[in-house]
Amino acid sequence: MVGVADIGPYFARIGPNPLRDAFEARRAVMPARGGGPVEPDEVQGRWRSLLAQASERGKRLAYIHVPFCANHCLFCGFYRNAYVGAQASGYVDLVIEEIGREAGAAAIAGVPVHAVYLGGGTPSALSADELSRLLKAVRASLPLAPDCEITVEGRIIHFDPEKIDACLEAGANRFSIGVQSFDTQVRRRQGRRSTREEAIRFLADLRARDRAALVIDLIYGLPGQDPEIWRQDLDTAAALEPDGIDLYGLNLIPGTPLATAISAGKFPSIAELSDLGGLYAEGAAFLRRRNWRQLSNNHWGRTTRERNLYNLLIKEGADCLAYGSGAGGSLGGHGYMLTGDLERHAMAVRAGEKPIAMMTGRDGNAALRHAVTAAFEVGHLELERLERIAGRDLAPLLLPLLQQWQQAGLLVLDEGTADLTVAGRFWYGNLVSAFHDLLNGPPRPARAAA
Ligand SMILES: C[S@@+](CC[C@H](N)C(=O)[O-])C[C@H]1O[C@@H](n2cnc3c(N)ncnc32)[C@H](O)[C@@H]1O
Ligand code: SF4
Repeated sequence: MVGVADIGPYFARIGPNPLRDAFEARRAVMPARGGGPVEPDEVQGRWRSLLAQASERGKRLAYIHVPFCANHCLFCGFYRNAYVGAQASGYVDLVIEEIGREAGAAAIAGVPVHAVYLGGGTPSALSADELSRLLKAVRASLPLAPDCEITVEGRIIHFDPEKIDACLEAGANRFSIGVQSFDTQVRRRQGRRSTREEAIRFLADLRARDRAALVIDLIYGLPGQDPEIWRQDLDTAAALEPDGIDLYGLNLIPGTPLATAISAGKFPSIAELSDLGGLYAEGAAFLRRRNWRQLSNNHWGRTTRERNLYNLLIKEGADCLAYGSGAGGSLGGHGYMLTGDLERHAMAVRAGEKPIAMMTGRDGNAALRHAVTAAFEVGHLELERLERIAGRDLAPLLLPLLQQWQQAGLLVLDEGTADLTVAGRFWYGNLVSAFHDLLNGPPRPARAAA
């Protein structure tokens, strides 16, 4: 019997402004990667047997991780290693070996890859030659679909025209550039060394080439980035006419230099959670007025060139081949993380092993979990579709919760279909997490384990 006791903890506060205070804290969406852990001494054998099985078809992704940065930006939880030229070159060789070695496996050779993401860290910290070699190895070894989205993530500093040419010639067709804010003072305070003028010049040049999709990442809520600076950031980004813009609310990650500095009182305060939603709504309205398409909660596209494919497919649970220290992926219903330790990564690759630090087995809840994540990600959920995937009636449990969220201003219900409002999109992590908790409980092993 389902009751308010089950769904009550997930109710939103009902008040005049749900953007400000629908929930007490924002919940992050946990990546859904597999069921229970695979025993460490079974991991290599399991990996080999996964590689040997012809994979189920379906959209396929590849992620290559470059765990080097010129410096540690204060807000960032992704930083792992300082960029050192000689070390990076050896690292690229190892990743190329890692990719090439598996290329002929039944699980890899037969399934087209629809999106490749060269992410970090900072891939653009690599030299032109390293970028070129890495991208060419990906294209030579993986069965890329003809319309494969190939993204290179980067930042402005050290991303020179020679590197951009190398990426384009090697097949990159999308650049995702982390700008965060254009305001020189806000940038510098976070360890972003280039100025507003340098950032604009770099992006205008990249845009003028007109050879690949250009996406700009902005963060709202950074220290010193008051609402006026945020408006200027939006204005500046849109005036550059990129193909896409991503807006992320500052996540104050414990242990980052920013979190430490703020708790030591060394920084101007960051936006309160209750103000963050307003900044998001302002960004969303700004882009809507200019006829940008909202592709997901945090991504907007201006042109049809921007598809945001990798990010959408990963939420749908597409298998993702992962390469490089610190990368995470999934294959045949198993999730895996590659070691973030550079030395261990190198030792494993040299020993002919997959450098897996952690693997999880098949998860019987995965399809439903992914369907929930993907639906909330694009702000549109169909209860009937979830019921088909679950093979059971979900309305008695979920409809009262959706109705409560509608009352709180987070979504609009039309029969069994829910469309998120701007506030719902801002709090979507809480909505996804509530559904995951209620539908799945903790991950459980599938009956037909591999
Ligand atoms: C994996 S990071 C890499 C970015 C790239 N290396 C750079 O320096 O711009 C991708 C994006 O995540 C976002 N991001 C990183 N840390 C964040 C945080 N603490 N809160 C919100 N967004 C964050 C930034 O917008 C960033 O561009
Ligand atoms: S924001 Fe980018 S460059 Fe800065 S530490 Fe994070 S991953 Fe590295």
